[in-house]
Amino acid sequence: PTRIFSGIQPSGGLTLGNYLGALKRFVQKQDEGIETVYCLVDMHAITVWQDPAKLRQQTREAAAGFIAAGIDPARSILFNQSQVTAHVELAWIFNTVARMGWMSRMTQFKDKAGKNSENVSLGLFAYPALMAADILAYKATHVPVGEDQKQHIELTRDIALKFNNDYGVNFFPITEPVIEGAATRVMSLRDGTKKMSKSDPSDQSRINLTDDADTIGKKIRKAKTDAEPLPDHLDGLKDRPDARNLVNIYAALADMSADAVIAEYAGAQFGTFKPALADLAVAKLEPITSEMNRLMQDPAEIDRILGEGADRADAIARPVMDEVYDIVGMIRSR
Ligand code: TYM
Repeated sequence: PTRIFSGIQPSGGLTLGNYLGALKRFVQKQDEGIETVYCLVDMHAITVWQDPAKLRQQTREAAAGFIAAGIDPARSILFNQSQVTAHVELAWIFNTVARMGWMSRMTQFKDKAGKNSENVSLGLFAYPALMAADILAYKATHVPVGEDQKQHIELTRDIALKFNNDYGVNFFPITEPVIEGAATRVMSLRDGTKKMSKSDPSDQSRINLTDDADTIGKKIRKAKTDAEPLPDHLDGLKDRPDARNLVNIYAALADMSADAVIAEYAGAQFGTFKPALADLAVAKLEPITSEMNRLMQDPAEIDRILGEGADRADAIARPVMDEVYDIVGMIRSR
């Protein structure tokens, strides 16, 4: 049976990259009637320092963003990771399955640790084992993510395979990454060769789901581009990463292919294309932003939804954990 799991770190506000690369597609999967489990991974967030009050606020805000974007807590399971202890329990087991060498090759770790890896948390290194635990505690078969998470899903597959092999069982599924659509890698508005990220120091580099219409319009009009008009074929964007990024964003927002966008805007100057993109972005994002703001008026209700989601998540993950302890040889006598 198909079961989808995915997660987002509440380590900052949600960006257009998170929305197009992940959240929008989470909603599509839910609406296709697939069983969907979505998690705000607060335990992952603290692998780099988070101010406690801000973490709580950002977790609620992310939950509000999910619901505003169309996640229905009755149809999807929506919860925050720390409320379901199976995640960290399974992560420990996976810490004993995963190899140091595998973890050392993770590009996200290398990027985040930089040159000074002596001084990053041990949790940042072990991060992908917790991510594998998130997914496999639900025996999830498919994980929709942006391009940047592909390597982590491959590691999840390696961990599942090694666990199954080491213990001579056919227990964990070999999970498939689902990386699809026109915006699997949304780039910075200031540099089309860099990923749009909530941790980029420049706020101009990204669109936040909390930005108002005016700010969105300004950021898009100021986005870096070259001086050429749009080509009449997608191949013409090969060496134009900034232009390509705006076309991809347009395509993803409009549910079109990049080819169809180019067909419509062939020969157009950015003076025409950018305002069209800004209008489209505002039309798609503003309803989400205003619903998010409305939901944030009632934090207790958000917490209630997360608690209820956690109960339902726990009902799936707890029996899986019981079986894991049994497979591994742990005495369970209470
Ligand atoms: P995170 O919080 O960095 O991002 C959440 C999701 O958004 C996608 N994404 C993007 N997609 C396209 N363009 C971008 N610029 C962009 N930026 C982010 C990410 O690919 C991701 O799908 N390790 C994960 C969180 C996680 C997780 C999991 C994901 C923890 N456990 C289990 C899936 C399954 C992360 O840091 O995502």
